[in-house]
Amino acid sequence: MAIIEGWLPPSRENWEFICRVWAYFPVITTAQWVLDWYPQGKTSIESRFNINGKIGWATMESAGFITLLYIMYSLPQEVGISELPWGNWTLAGCFVIHYLYRAVAAPLFLNPSMSPMHPFVWIMAFAFQVTNAVSIGGYIAGYGPTTQEYWASRSEFMFVGLVIWCWGLLGNMFHDDDLREIRRAANRKQQREAKESGKPAESVDKIYMIPKNGLFRYVLHAHYLCEWIEWAGWWMIGGWAFHPGRNFLINEITTMLPRALQGKRWYEKKFGREKLEGRKAVIPGVL
Ligand SMILES: NC(=O)c1ccc[n+]([C@@H]2O[C@H](COP(=O)([O-])OP(=O)(O)OC[C@H]3O[C@@H](n4cnc5c(N)ncnc54)[C@H](OP(=O)(O)O)[C@@H]3O)[C@@H](O)[C@H]2O)c1
Repeated sequence: MAIIEGWLPPSRENWEFICRVWAYFPVITTAQWVLDWYPQGKTSIESRFNINGKIGWATMESAGFITLLYIMYSLPQEVGISELPWGNWTLAGCFVIHYLYRAVAAPLFLNPSMSPMHPFVWIMAFAFQVTNAVSIGGYIAGYGPTTQEYWASRSEFMFVGLVIWCWGLLGNMFHDDDLREIRRAANRKQQREAKESGKPAESVDKIYMIPKNGLFRYVLHAHYLCEWIEWAGWWMIGGWAFHPGRNFLINEITTMLPRALQGKRWYEKKFGREKLEGRKAVIPGVL
């Protein structure tokens, strides 16, 4: 049953249209190079419209994997495919695993605190997630390759892609957790001091330090870099012709790169350039 006739799941014509438009997303991100306004995370602002950070992340990021799963279950029937092969489910599975971590586990269970976000950020991220999921879902649930033979013929590339995807995801999680540890440590200290003084413990919201472990020794946004490696591996699983995978990677890089450079400027202002000890924003030794 279609949720929106012709769009969810998408007809071939509408899917092709979305893929064409989605390839132009980097044009929108040029605004991030000239505007410093990014009301979320480190650069969040005080606004009465703000959304709670954890709820905001969970809701905006869940839209992608839920949409993808819906298309995986609805589109094959519409185009007369009785069962999708394992290769298609491998791509969907990797995507869902990533977003179960990013949209559910990280904000709702793991992150000690998250800054509030402006609804503008939520709307942009929600739109990104839905458009991206339609682009990817259309390909892997019906309009891209859907035969066992196709996947069997490129199993070596899939294996290498899966290994890269997996290391990228683990790296992303490791560096995310290094940031969490900063606030967990601050929380432990504040609990200890509260116990000694008999006063209530202060919140750890907005406590920042320079992360130092793993690739953070070289770049301030090591978690971003690992996420790019992860999605590059995922594109490889799908193959050179998997254009929604390529667009996803390019779109992520074009929005996260200016954000990382803005983050570096923020670190320089808060801690001083000398404290960063030559760390780059996101690509070791380069940017
Ligand atoms: N931002 C994007 O455009 C984007 C796009 C796609 C995927 N992602 C992925 O989503 C994840 C989160 O992205 P993000 O942009 O929100 O990352 P982020 O700004 O580095 O924040 C991640 C979390 O760590 C906290 N944090 C950040 N820097 C800290 C520091 N120096 N000391 C202590 N705590 C710190 C943040 O708290 P506050 O919220 O209080 O700042 C937040 O809870 C990353 O793994 C990234 O790869 C991001």
